[in-house]
Amino acid sequence: MRKILITRAVFPEVVAALSRRFEVVHNAEDRPWPPEELARRLEGVSGAMATVMDKFDEPILAQCAQLKVISNIAVGYNNIDVPACTRRGIRVTNTPGVLDDTTADLTWSLLMAAARRIAEADAYVRRGDWKIAFGVQYFLGQDIHHATLGIIGMGRIGQAIARRASGFDMRVLYNNRSRLSESDEKRLNATRVERDELLAQSDFVVVMVPYSPATHHMIGAAEIAKMKPNAILVNSARGGVVDDAALVEALKARRIAGAGLDVFEGEPKLHPELAALPNVVLTPHIGSASRATRVVMCNAAAGNMTAVLEGREPANPVN
Ligand code: DGY
Repeated sequence: MRKILITRAVFPEVVAALSRRFEVVHNAEDRPWPPEELARRLEGVSGAMATVMDKFDEPILAQCAQLKVISNIAVGYNNIDVPACTRRGIRVTNTPGVLDDTTADLTWSLLMAAARRIAEADAYVRRGDWKIAFGVQYFLGQDIHHATLGIIGMGRIGQAIARRASGFDMRVLYNNRSRLSESDEKRLNATRVERDELLAQSDFVVVMVPYSPATHHMIGAAEIAKMKPNAILVNSARGGVVDDAALVEALKARRIAGAGLDVFEGEPKLHPELAALPNVVLTPHIGSASRATRVVMCNAAAGNMTAVLEGREPANPVN
């Protein structure tokens, strides 16, 4: 029986299904393995079902001669050196499509929470600071309805975010390498503009691009300076797409009104000043974290890995 490795705790039914075909080593305790331990555990393994926190770089790959497939339980795969895998004949797969709506929902949750200061208000009530029942100027936030939403990165998730804007009668601007078809633009009521124009006109700026050297610090001090003073920035894509230090400075100086962040540079560590800021809503990389979606993602990843190991083409090949 070939040996496979599941690098983090997944659902028992997924482990059970894989155990009928493979010898499964499952990280049921869910303790992230440091690189040396991951390398050691990969010895003799044919397939790895992994998360975006497991780094598969050249030094690790060099130590796993038997590895045939890395199946990421994620749409993103910036944790994997894909060209190095290709050179070594290792297939890489991901789980696109199945998490678009769930990630769009979370993105909207951050947007709305930041706009209406939900985290601040919640903390205020819990602390017992709410002494006078009603105040005309309590927790004044921003309107979402009829505002302008700017989406940078109009792939599947970007489009799912745009679809939700119609219920709020918003104007939707987008910036993307390639233009959507006329019918998609019409369906989403979205207008393609240059990035600077999007930054200058949007009340809400959402970034939804994969992380790569090309998107590193795509939103930094210069970009934030172009945004409106009332603007809210939302990043539920990848840490490193936004320059967290520049964002902290802007939030401290109130150059923009707020931010909603699900991903961070160097997560789970935060920029040291981020958590103290009242005008930011923080969640721990949970974009696709509904139970239903995570089950589907795990099943998709298991299916991709099984296909490769059984000599079939996987449903979601990256290389
Ligand atoms: C993804 O699918 O890329 C999410 O960030 C979860 O890892």
